[in-house]
Amino acid sequence: MSLKEQINILNVPNHIAIIMDGNGRWAKSQGMMRVFGHENGTKSVKTTIKASVRLGVKYLTLYAFSTENWNRPKLEVNALMRLLVKSLKAELPLFHKEKVRLNVIGEMESLPDKAKRQLNAAMEETAGYSEMTLTLALSYGSRQELVKTFQDIADKVKNNLISPHLITEEVIKEHLYTKSMPDVDLLIRTSGEQRISNFLLWQIAYAELYFLPVLWPDFTPEHLYEAILNYQQRERRFGKTSDQIT
Ligand code: FPP
Repeated sequence: MSLKEQINILNVPNHIAIIMDGNGRWAKSQGMMRVFGHENGTKSVKTTIKASVRLGVKYLTLYAFSTENWNRPKLEVNALMRLLVKSLKAELPLFHKEKVRLNVIGEMESLPDKAKRQLNAAMEETAGYSEMTLTLALSYGSRQELVKTFQDIADKVKNNLISPHLITEEVIKEHLYTKSMPDVDLLIRTSGEQRISNFLLWQIAYAELYFLPVLWPDFTPEHLYEAILNYQQRERRFGKTSDQIT
């Protein structure tokens, strides 16, 4: 049986988030510039989107550019932004074909105008689709998201729109970029690094974590199937005992 056939279709993670890491090392291993790794990384983005929709994953969230990534050499930042615009143009037909809705989380206002325009147009065009929501985390940092959330809530308290003892987990969730999305079920990170790097800290509270040594441009649907099979072997207890679950 192929890996894909072994997947229990009734227990596919509803929300998969991916830290796509290792583009630079992949390029270096080929004696090429880092940008070459990012270019090849877009191929893995495409195949991962396709494979996820086909499996019935409802939410796929990709860490494409962190707030910290602005500190990279200007040449690389510019190349990543150009690649984003180019990829959006190229993949729009795929979004329409597969009924994928595009969403963005992060400080979108800090992106170049061209990228903003392209993203807004793609989000508008795909707003009616519900097969899968593809969220790109762009200029995203989880601590920044939480700071913004607490500032927004504090403003409401100041203006008597909410009283402090009515601030619940639900209220905090409602102020996050991810307010319309469920929590992450499975978080995957490629390249062998085993850390979260300021990604969705609130939203991964009960996520299963899966790290693999493969560099992102080498990530294929088979790796995704392996991650999902591994997820399906785990017992998610959400703080309860094993007996309570079974
Ligand atoms: C991490 O690898 C990857 C990134 C910072 C960017 C991810 C971007 C892409 C996959 C391509 C564009 C994305 C979209 C959505 C069109 P790294 O550069 O940190 O690799 P390294 O750790 O080996 O240096």
